[in-house]
Amino acid sequence: MKKLNVGLIGYGFMGRAHSNAYRKVNNFFDLECQPVLKAACARSEDKVRPFAAKWGYESVETDWRKLVQREDIELIDICTPNNTHAEIATAAAKAGKMILCEKPLSMDGPEGKRMVAAVEKAGVANMVWYNYRRVPAVTFAKQLIDEGRLGRIYHYRAKFLQDWTINPDLPQGGTGLWRLDVKAAGSGVTGDLLAHCIDTAIWLNGGIDKVNAMTETFVKERKHNLTGKVEKVGIDDACAFLARFGNGSLATFESTRYARGHKALYTFEINGEHASIFWDLHDLHRLQYFDHRDQGPVRGWRSIHVTDGEHPYMGKWWVPGLQIGYEHSFVHQVADFLQGLTNGKPASPTFRDALETQYVCDAVLKSAKSGKWEKVAKVK
Ligand SMILES: NC(=O)c1ccc[n+]([C@@H]2O[C@H](COP(=O)([O-])OP(=O)(O)OC[C@H]3O[C@@H](n4cnc5c(N)ncnc54)[C@H](OP(=O)(O)O)[C@@H]3O)[C@@H](O)[C@H]2O)c1
Repeated sequence: MKKLNVGLIGYGFMGRAHSNAYRKVNNFFDLECQPVLKAACARSEDKVRPFAAKWGYESVETDWRKLVQREDIELIDICTPNNTHAEIATAAAKAGKMILCEKPLSMDGPEGKRMVAAVEKAGVANMVWYNYRRVPAVTFAKQLIDEGRLGRIYHYRAKFLQDWTINPDLPQGGTGLWRLDVKAAGSGVTGDLLAHCIDTAIWLNGGIDKVNAMTETFVKERKHNLTGKVEKVGIDDACAFLARFGNGSLATFESTRYARGHKALYTFEINGEHASIFWDLHDLHRLQYFDHRDQGPVRGWRSIHVTDGEHPYMGKWWVPGLQIGYEHSFVHQVADFLQGLTNGKPASPTFRDALETQYVCDAVLKSAKSGKWEKVAKVK
């Protein structure tokens, strides 16, 4: 079994999700390569040390630059706020390390383009953690579409709704709240939530040609945790946009953190010539499927419990009927990445794939300002 030494940066939400995936992957998937939790890194030593001990990392660093230069590290995993991705990834690529980077790839398209150039020049394996592709019901949706069961696609409808920033007293910046600080996040719900919807949409339905968007910042000023001052809020609290895909289908996308009652309601629906599908993150192991070719009297929406051995990834887990959850999508992504190292077929989305999503986000934010339809730049 080949060992792969991982240096992970960030002990927060994603630091935990990825560490869990590295630890479990070889217990469930037959692979020729095994991740070794070599080092965990973050600036706060008092927090990263207990994290490293809890998850079984062999060592700790407090400066990612040192981690990236360590000869015993082969893969750098970036689980830090968005404004740090480019600098870390570029340095890691120069040091010849493989890179797994959290989404969104970058703060904007031009920065993402430079990151793509850096990893491709260095020739290092790379991937971005758009994990929803690996929820079995979503992967199954991809299979159904690729088999042509839906026929020509007419409509794509996605939304991602939350409600955790409604309180105007919630500060911006610093731990956990960097998402509200445009300097750390790049954008609001567009880069944070809609980026997931866009990545899934491009994967399932192909490229997006143009968009027409509106955004709103409902709370205009918030105290900043790092400066202590009340500062302008620069992120989009909500965003809705229309889109036209290259295949001619029409789309609507919506995201907000002001939808009272919704915590992480990511849903998509696709309507095709013969069939439709619907998926809901709150019920992530089910895929709703309607096929007009079913016999008339029994035609109707089927709720497919995606837990059978024949369903994507499910043969690796328990017996049919027993479902898995959110964290497993990360296990699947690590499994596919490791498989890609062995068979030479890089797991997607690579940095180059993820740049396409970045370009859609740029066009969305541009359109929200211009009030016009904006074309999405092509990844060259
Ligand atoms: N795939 C998904 O579904 C998903 C879900 C959530 C988040 N994400 C993405 O994952 C990334 C991290 O988000 P999160 O929710 O895990 O954040 P988080 O919980 O706030 O954790 C951020 C971590 O980064 C560390 N950090 C910040 N600046 C650093 C620096 N300069 N050098 C080293 N470490 C630094 C922090 O520790 P110190 O402050 O001690 O340095 C902390 O451990 C973001 O890009 C986010 O968009 C993706």
